[in-house]
Amino acid sequence: MPEPIESLVKKEAVAQRDPIVSTSTSAIILVCTLLLIGVSAWALYDEAYGQRPWKGIQREFVKRYTTYLKSIRKDAGKSEAEVKDTPEYQQLDADAKAAEDKVRDRRKEIDDQYAKVQAKLDAVTDPFQNQRGKIVVITFKLETAPSNFWKNYYSRQRDAKMSEVVTVDVPADNGKTTREKMNFDKLESSFNGLREEKAKLLGEKAEILKEPSELQKKRDDYLKNHVSGLTQKSIDDLIRKNENSFDYTILSHQLNVNEYSIVDRCEICHLGTREPLMISKENMAPGGPGKKPDELANAFVSHPRRELLQIHNPEKFGCSACHNGNGRATTTVEKAHGLNPFWLHPLYHKENTEAGCQMCHANDRVTQGADTLNLGKDLFYQRGCMGCHRMEAFDRESDALTNTRQQITQLEEQIAANERQAKQDEASNVEDEISRIRKRLART
Ligand code: HEC
Ligand code: HEC
Ligand code: HEC
Ligand code: HEC
Repeated sequence: MPEPIESLVKKEAVAQRDPIVSTSTSAIILVCTLLLIGVSAWALYDEAYGQRPWKGIQREFVKRYTTYLKSIRKDAGKSEAEVKDTPEYQQLDADAKAAEDKVRDRRKEIDDQYAKVQAKLDAVTDPFQNQRGKIVVITFKLETAPSNFWKNYYSRQRDAKMSEVVTVDVPADNGKTTREKMNFDKLESSFNGLREEKAKLLGEKAEILKEPSELQKKRDDYLKNHVSGLTQKSIDDLIRKNENSFDYTILSHQLNVNEYSIVDRCEICHLGTREPLMISKENMAPGGPGKKPDELANAFVSHPRRELLQIHNPEKFGCSACHNGNGRATTTVEKAHGLNPFWLHPLYHKENTEAGCQMCHANDRVTQGADTLNLGKDLFYQRGCMGCHRMEAFDRESDALTNTRQQITQLEEQIAANERQAKQDEASNVEDEISRIRKRLART
């Protein structure tokens, strides 16, 4: 047998290690499968709940609101007088009155003292502000004086103004007035002192009135909650709606204002906003009406400014026109309120809600129902901000300037006419005189 030629024999290559054949992949596949199941479950959860916190919020609303409605059902239709006759109300009323009686004397003392301080302050304020105004003007001149001569001049003028003594009729405690002479330092220190005294009295008054006013509020709330204005039948209808046909979708609670492309979904959480009765946060407490409210209870209240919603129907104005926030967002409270980074219109803080009124009522010098905003505008006016920051409603002085210019032109025309008249009169007088002299000369 011939020897096989070595080179012809294909040596079986040593089998390469093939990971697919030689090792088990079941572990990896198991992990991947589990991951896939996990991710699917998470996606389903996120779709159904995670991105939809309002679903839970709505169920909670329905539960609490129904409990509340049932709690007021028995009092439905009761008149104010009937509620006032209940022992619960009587007790609350007695507590409030007792607390009021306890502080009555001290309150009267404070009020009297306050009136006296205010009268003195009224007497001092004008002279103080006058002098201060003059000193500010001189100081400005001093600071911008072109040379040492003027600097010295204004410096002397300012010293003189500072030590100038003005007479102020200050009401004394006994009802008379005393005439006091005050230089600027004295004026300033009594102005500041009186203001401090006034603030202290106001502070003390607020302090002693705290307990009585809390008790009064409790009593008044009790009355408000038990006189709902709704009949038993309309309460039953509301309960039935909650239990049988509450709509848990977004669309039915969403406001569309196409005209201004506003889409506000605030009411998918703020479900009580436009309910037909007053709902306070205590009414919606998790433990039942009257218990301690939580965050959701804060959200479930009816709108505190019903009269404003009547003028600005949310169907036409939306909510974010007044409040800011991100009307479309629904996934978290933070995003809905636009408090996430880079959202340009975060919800106004509760105490600044009236800033929203300014968006549309900027040109109204006074906006009814926006007391804080009006105070701000007063301040803007009193502090002279509008001298540099032009604002529509504050531009009275530009009107005044135009009027005055017109008056000046008219007066100038009048003056010219009068002068012409005077010249003519003078000329005719002179002619009369001349003719008289001529006559006399002719006679002689
Ligand atoms: C996802 C649910 C949700 C949405 C959507 C939502 N809110 Fe709220 N909102 C809440 C909750 C919960 C609170 C109570 C928060 C608290 O008390 O801390 C609240 C509180 C408020 C308050 C009171 C704020 C304060 O400082 O006391 C205002 C005003 C308000 N929301 C306006 C809006 C407006 C306007 C929109 C729509 C642009 C909106 N919310 C959308 C859940 C929501
Ligand atoms: C005309 C402007 C205006 C519109 C429109 C408006 N609000 Fe308000 N909202 C106010 C004012 C003013 C307050 C009171 C703020 C304060 O004095 O504390 C307020 C208060 C609230 C509060 C706080 C309630 C509380 O007691 O803490 C919530 C919540 C609220 N509004 C939700 C809404 C929702 C939801 C809408 C849309 C359906 C809406 N508002 C539309 C002006 C408006
Ligand atoms: C999105 C713009 C807008 C915002 C924000 C807004 N208003 Fe108005 N408001 C209007 C318009 C428009 C009218 C006139 C409505 C009409 O005559 O039907 C009006 C009317 C009123 C009126 C009736 C008296 C009048 O001048 O005609 C009052 C009072 C008022 N607003 C107060 C407020 C207060 C308070 C706020 C803030 C809490 C506010 N508004 C926020 C647009 C706005
Ligand atoms: C003497 C003129 C003058 C007076 C009076 C004045 N300001 Fe200003 N204010 C300015 C100028 C100029 C700027 C702009 C500064 C800049 O652009 O850097 C400004 C800027 C501001 C800004 C920042 C505006 C922005 O868009 O960043 C505010 C807020 C402001 N002023 C408020 C007030 C208030 C409130 C008062 C009244 C107490 C007042 N100013 C009085 C001249 C004035």
